[in-house]
Amino acid sequence: MSLNSKDYFNQFYLKNPESSYSKSLYHFFENDVRPRLSKKELNILDLGAGNYSLFENIKNLSANISAIDFSTVANSSTPVSKIKYLEIDLLDPTFFNQKKFDLIFDSHCLNCLTEESQRTLAFKNIYEALSAEGLFASEQMIQPENSQVSMPFKMIKSARELEEEILSYGLKIIYFTISQSSKFVNEVDGIEVQCDLVKIIAKKEL
Ligand SMILES: C[S@@+](CC[C@H](N)C(=O)[O-])C[C@H]1O[C@@H](n2cnc3c(N)ncnc32)[C@H](O)[C@@H]1O
Repeated sequence: MSLNSKDYFNQFYLKNPESSYSKSLYHFFENDVRPRLSKKELNILDLGAGNYSLFENIKNLSANISAIDFSTVANSSTPVSKIKYLEIDLLDPTFFNQKKFDLIFDSHCLNCLTEESQRTLAFKNIYEALSAEGLFASEQMIQPENSQVSMPFKMIKSARELEEEILSYGLKIIYFTISQSSKFVNEVDGIEVQCDLVKIIAKKEL
């Protein structure tokens, strides 16, 4: 079984059913993303959210929120949630061709796409589903400044490579900040890797 596959993540969530959220992502949304959203009633899409979207913790937001994951864990989210959890593959265009979103939010899901062909499909889907003024916001692991790290079944690009990739899909970067040397534990083998973290906001080049 490939260790970034749907089957792998199904088993991972069976073994790790507890849900948690990252404070750094919460602050990213509240301080940097939310002030840039101007519509009163928002359509939001959370990518690779597992069974617990960050947006469970965001208060006073008038929004329709869909949280997708290709793992079946998306079907076992809390039934009282206002968030619509859906079992959907980021690489499948069907869903992305149907609806437009004012915000598409990624927290480390794109790091799971290790083939360039997969990343092309994902970015095409994201572009297609963004509304004209919509924002793509993402937090991803990137290579540290002075060394090269690798993690099995994760794509860890350099800041420059990631910037070029995003621009190549017709997106304009309006926010790009790097925080240095965060420790990440790989879900697959438990090995700790020290890499940098980037937070990005981009919109369609009109
Ligand atoms: C590293 S986890 C991040 C989970 C959560 N967003 C967070 O920040 O804690 C990556 C998530 O992306 C999901 N995922 C990976 N590839 C996917 C794909 N092609 N389509 C949809 N979800 C995917 C996995 O099932 C997993 O829940």
